[in-house]
Amino acid sequence: MSPRIAVVVGASGGLGRALVSELLTEPGWGLVVGVGRRKPSDWPDDPRTPFLTADLLDEVALSKLAGEIAALGTPGLVIIATGLLHAEGLKPEKAMRAVSAASMTRLFEVNAILPTLVAKHLAPLLPKDEPSVLAALSARVGSIGDNRLGGWHAYRASKAALNMMFRCQAIELARERPLAVCVTLHPGTVATPLSAPFARSSSTVLEPVESARRLLKVLHRLEPADSGGFFAYDASRVSW
Ligand SMILES: NC(=O)c1ccc[n+]([C@@H]2O[C@H](COP(=O)([O-])OP(=O)(O)OC[C@H]3O[C@@H](n4cnc5c(N)ncnc54)[C@H](OP(=O)(O)O)[C@@H]3O)[C@@H](O)[C@H]2O)c1
Repeated sequence: MSPRIAVVVGASGGLGRALVSELLTEPGWGLVVGVGRRKPSDWPDDPRTPFLTADLLDEVALSKLAGEIAALGTPGLVIIATGLLHAEGLKPEKAMRAVSAASMTRLFEVNAILPTLVAKHLAPLLPKDEPSVLAALSARVGSIGDNRLGGWHAYRASKAALNMMFRCQAIELARERPLAVCVTLHPGTVATPLSAPFARSSSTVLEPVESARRLLKVLHRLEPADSGGFFAYDASRVSW
């Protein structure tokens, strides 16, 4: 039987790295595989955590990646921890007049299209007759019902789109893999490069390892009946 492995996509990021280090402390994973577009120079030299590189927006590369993961084992857990909020020439909008096609395109590409394509290529690797988890990091600001402040238009909308794509994925997954759980997660406000310019205005900022620990606890407790949901790091459901 092939070993049961955990896969973290976006393993170079603040939350991705913390998820890998937490998963390495859990019994039961033959390997904790990191995935990203480039291997960080300080990635641990540990045979339990290989790092696979791929262009995560290229379906040919994703298909090859899926083959490489399958050769390592059967994924019992796949967490997609990629995401984008700001970059050179890209900052969250404060008002509708700042919205542009260019920023919307970039954020939708990284926050909605990329995790959807990764899920499309990696979901078929999940076991058919054992429990498994496919999760993507979303954000509470992607909740339409919870949006009372406005702003961050493209980021919010890209996460709302991600939530919808994962809901669709969950419905399909349930047909062939009834024991699988497929969800999106809000990690809290976490001290990472993504939140650095904004987190000081938040009252509670979590360390990445604390958020990762809480997210994994939530994932381990979810059941197939929860599949298709949107959950926060404190296990509460986030409204759509
Ligand atoms: N931090 C927070 O407070 C917070 C709050 C709510 C939700 N989230 C969500 O949590 C997730 C993880 O965020 P984080 O805080 O860990 O951010 P981060 O430290 O900036 O990490 C972002 C990750 O996304 C990857 N990435 C970005 N663009 C990519 C692309 N075009 N192709 C491939 N990989 C790409 C980065 O890879 P490279 O290293 O190659 O750039 C990195 O691994 C995101 O979805 C974010 O929206 C975070």
